[in-house]
Amino acid sequence: MKFDILTLFPAMFDGPLTESILKRAAEKGLIEVKLHNIRDFAFDRHSVTDDYPYGGGAGMVMKVEPLAACIEHAKVGSPRARVILTTPRGRSFNHAVAEELAREEALIIICGRYEGVDERVRELFVDDEISIGDFVLTGGEMAAMVLVDAVSRFVPGVLGSDESAVNDSFADGLLEYPQYTRPAEFRGLGVPSVLLSGNHQEIAKWRRRQSLGRTAASRPDLLKDAHLSASDREYLEELQRVAGSDG
Ligand code: ADE
Repeated sequence: MKFDILTLFPAMFDGPLTESILKRAAEKGLIEVKLHNIRDFAFDRHSVTDDYPYGGGAGMVMKVEPLAACIEHAKVGSPRARVILTTPRGRSFNHAVAEELAREEALIIICGRYEGVDERVRELFVDDEISIGDFVLTGGEMAAMVLVDAVSRFVPGVLGSDESAVNDSFADGLLEYPQYTRPAEFRGLGVPSVLLSGNHQEIAKWRRRQSLGRTAASRPDLLKDAHLSASDREYLEELQRVAGSDG
């Protein structure tokens, strides 16, 4: 999977993509991240990449010509890439979108800055606009890093078999159950005895119920699309009854 990242601040990417799992994935040739500095495609002497908005108003707008030249350059190396603009105006990024993007052969990610990007960039080049949440970042770079990280986890071989994305929070539409490792007691807090029981059926049942309980408590919105069995539904109803009688 190839990622072409178009940015005014390529140095921002130095740490996050060159450590740990992504570093290993790049070394194995499973992912390739290529940074393109948009400023290198500015055509004037001062390398200007932004300008005042037509019609007035606060802030600066990223100019169309350097971006167009940079995108066209990236497309020579990645002709079939999906072109993504990171922007708070985009569709929401989540587990399913990460999985969908991982099926592409290549992604060209444009990191927006300033107050926005000249609309003609979107009209001419952009296939997809993605927001990583309902807040505004100082630029699209951090959003691009989030995309590269979350998408790479779905590229076959990037995660070891014991790290597989299959058991992730969200994989079945629920949040993950709590995890423990040694020691069995820390500052007076133990580990749920079922996890020490060796009874795999009971452990699976406990974990499922923990996932359901956590999701109901923190992200009840996820439950409507989650894959729930009849006994999952019964358990959720029981939780509601208990909560109702407590309150
Ligand atoms: N650029 C600025 N804010 C953003 C957000 N929330 N998601 C994606 N790109 C952004």
